[in-house]
Amino acid sequence: MDTIVQPVVQSNTDTFPLNGTDYVEFYVGNAKQSALYYQACFGYELVAYKGPETGSRNVVSYVLQQNKIRLVLSSALHSDHEIARHVAFHGDGVKDLALWVDDAEKAYMTALDRGAESARPFEEIEDEFGVIRRASIKTYGETIHTFVERKNYHGAFMPGFAARSSTRKVTPVGLQFVDHCVGNVELGDMNKWVKFYQDVMGFKLLITFDDKDISTEYTALMSKVVSNGNGYVKFPINEPAKGLKKSQIEEYLDFYKCGGVQHIAVATNDILHTVSTLRENGVDFLYVPENYYETVSERVGPIDEDLEALKKMNILIDRDEDGYLLQIFTKPVQDRPTVFYEIIQRKGAKSFGKGNFKALFEAIEREQELRGTL
Ligand code: FE2
Repeated sequence: MDTIVQPVVQSNTDTFPLNGTDYVEFYVGNAKQSALYYQACFGYELVAYKGPETGSRNVVSYVLQQNKIRLVLSSALHSDHEIARHVAFHGDGVKDLALWVDDAEKAYMTALDRGAESARPFEEIEDEFGVIRRASIKTYGETIHTFVERKNYHGAFMPGFAARSSTRKVTPVGLQFVDHCVGNVELGDMNKWVKFYQDVMGFKLLITFDDKDISTEYTALMSKVVSNGNGYVKFPINEPAKGLKKSQIEEYLDFYKCGGVQHIAVATNDILHTVSTLRENGVDFLYVPENYYETVSERVGPIDEDLEALKKMNILIDRDEDGYLLQIFTKPVQDRPTVFYEIIQRKGAKSFGKGNFKALFEAIEREQELRGTL
């Protein structure tokens, strides 16, 4: 078997309308310091805060924004809090991939009707800036999706949060929006979660990669990509496949202790500028050897960017029938080898960089070797 790209069936009736990603919430050990990391290294602006000063006795959250990307970093103030338990068990990680909807109650009720499990009941929360309507469902591992309806809200983020701005000078690096969020699940669970997104949220299966597509000499994985009706929300789901050595997915599951978000791909319109700034700011990227660039022109044909400049920044290139894309992957952004980021610039291409999988996974294997987890 090889990669299977499903024909895109155009439908006029989106049975589960989503406007895009509303926010990504991380549960972390020390939100104050994480917030500074995202401001200093990734150029996010602080926009809102909740904590004891705003009446939140048990949880502190920092909301960071860059263009359409919103991150929420939350920590517990007491060891018996659910966030403290989550962090002790999983390390820092993504708890909530929140989705922006026009009608949160309808989205939630529809999801429950179609078999989703509730993570938080529907509620309306209100302050002087208006009303947020929201509810949450469970997905893989301990991850949840909160449906957020904010059409009648004009505050900084949500009731309970106060507007805040960065106390240091922040220079945005050009990150624009969340392109896709990838989940790692246990062996045998990929199809279950693909079916979940199909059944519950009307997602379409876009692409299937089997272990022949995604393998090196030593390790392998399988992946299926699902997308919502308008294509704004794309979730690739990975599961480990049998290889000679331990795959990166197994390593992730060993450290995260269950399925969870593996990487968040964020889009830029100028990857050279974004990546050079991130590097200056101290962000660590995976290293792909120079010989990658010896054959890349043959494989991808002419591109607008200077190949030498891309090589200097170690940016990868791939082409599909619609165009090409430029991408690079950070190393994990916390001590456990779990969540990392992809920076992606699409020049027409709608795919995920299949031509780079081998080089990428070999780069990850080199890191696994250093960690003693290959
Ligand atoms: Fe990706």
